[in-house]
Amino acid sequence: MGAGASFFYYNKLVKIEAEQKMKEPRKVRLHTYGCQMNEYDSEVIAGLFERDGWVLTDDESEAEVILLNTCSVRQHAEDRVWGALFELRERAMRQPGLVVGVCGCMAQAKADEIARRCPHVKVICGTRAFNRLPELVARAAQGRGSVIDTDMSSEPFLANLPQKRRSRLKAFVPVMRGCENYCAYCVVPYVRGHEASRSLEEVLAEVESLARDGCREVMLLGQNVNSYRAAGVSFADVLREVAAIKGIDRIRFMTSHPKDFPDELIRAMADVPQVCEHLHLPLQSGCDRILKMMNRGYTFESYRGLAQKIRGAVPEIALSTDILVGFPGETDDDFKQTARALKEIGFDSAFIFKYSDREGTSAYELQPKVGEEIIMRRHAELLKLQEKIGMEKNRKLIGASPEVLVEGYSPRNPERLFGRTRTNKRVVFGGGGDLIGKLVYVIIREATPLTLIGEEL
Ligand code: 5AD
Ligand code: SF4
Repeated sequence: MGAGASFFYYNKLVKIEAEQKMKEPRKVRLHTYGCQMNEYDSEVIAGLFERDGWVLTDDESEAEVILLNTCSVRQHAEDRVWGALFELRERAMRQPGLVVGVCGCMAQAKADEIARRCPHVKVICGTRAFNRLPELVARAAQGRGSVIDTDMSSEPFLANLPQKRRSRLKAFVPVMRGCENYCAYCVVPYVRGHEASRSLEEVLAEVESLARDGCREVMLLGQNVNSYRAAGVSFADVLREVAAIKGIDRIRFMTSHPKDFPDELIRAMADVPQVCEHLHLPLQSGCDRILKMMNRGYTFESYRGLAQKIRGAVPEIALSTDILVGFPGETDDDFKQTARALKEIGFDSAFIFKYSDREGTSAYELQPKVGEEIIMRRHAELLKLQEKIGMEKNRKLIGASPEVLVEGYSPRNPERLFGRTRTNKRVVFGGGGDLIGKLVYVIIREATPLTLIGEEL
């Protein structure tokens, strides 16, 4: 074979390779930080890319587009994103076709700073623009510089967006978005905008479609679900209507604000069988002075009254909460009141957060700030206290046989199954893969602060 022929074959090979590459689906890597609303948004983002023929990959090295769906609620969440972005800088230089994009809350809050500090970020897409994300990515791939879309004027709910759900069994369904409570420490009203409720018809259509696909549990999402109101429909009405959809065995919702928890909602929780016996009710602090500075709109006394009323109506209910330690001006005595509140209410679980100063919030201007060391000590103390309380609560369940929705194999021990009770407790137990997706009864033999261990009844 002469040199001309081998050149011909070489060229042909290159052409075939190029053609194959063109046929290969383009790949996108999506990282999600933050809350359930972000997880839901990521399901929509994934759905939009799949609709356009992209494939989602876990392997970042083969991705043409890397997207970070971000959170701004605490500095730590933002620091993780900055770290990931700086790490991507070198790769972006080596691979000029790569599109790195930042979307969600941090993109909304820090678009200019991201563009300035990270010139390799080509797309910055805010909280009300992600339906335009594929188009922004296409524009970025062609042009130079960053494409920024932080326009908040579009509708927060867009009907008929495709979704790629993480689980067939359980799904998030937003019923409202945004927040207008302006708690002093919180950045959410600024990055997610004003409150908007989704129409009942749209919520029901989404749940019906999920039920047809085999979904058994829905989590209705909103920054503040008890503010839901759409054409005279209340959130309690939404619960009753969703419960009427065949196939949905369990309904959860999150998050409720203690300042305006209507009796009508308590009644719906008590008499709609599908509504699970779990309520996440953020307390934030047990000290009235701090609650007032936080602009929470309730006192500890009224919170305790509400918890009692709910427990009276739904005796088996498990309560979980959020606590914020180290709010500006929090003294040792204020902190002790929070510790006392944790014991007095007896939460099944609590997320305990260290106060993080967020620029633009009213607490940012408040003095004196609590020192980092004191915050760490208070945080550790409450974690320990809550562990003890959670342990006591869970120990009482030894011998009980709660209903468990089996979600899959235990991540820690793949020979065991994993599921959750209606009260949202994690249960690990022995059994075959055929139980996945089913409701079973599990007798509890052992308890840890966060997990119950048992056997199928
Ligand atoms: N610092 C720490 N935690 C915060 N949260 C909200 N804003 C901040 C902040 N600036 C917590 C609250 C809220 C939860 C979602 O995050 O406890 O309920
Ligand atoms: Fe933030 Fe308060 Fe709104 Fe919750 S209710 S999102 S803590 S402002």
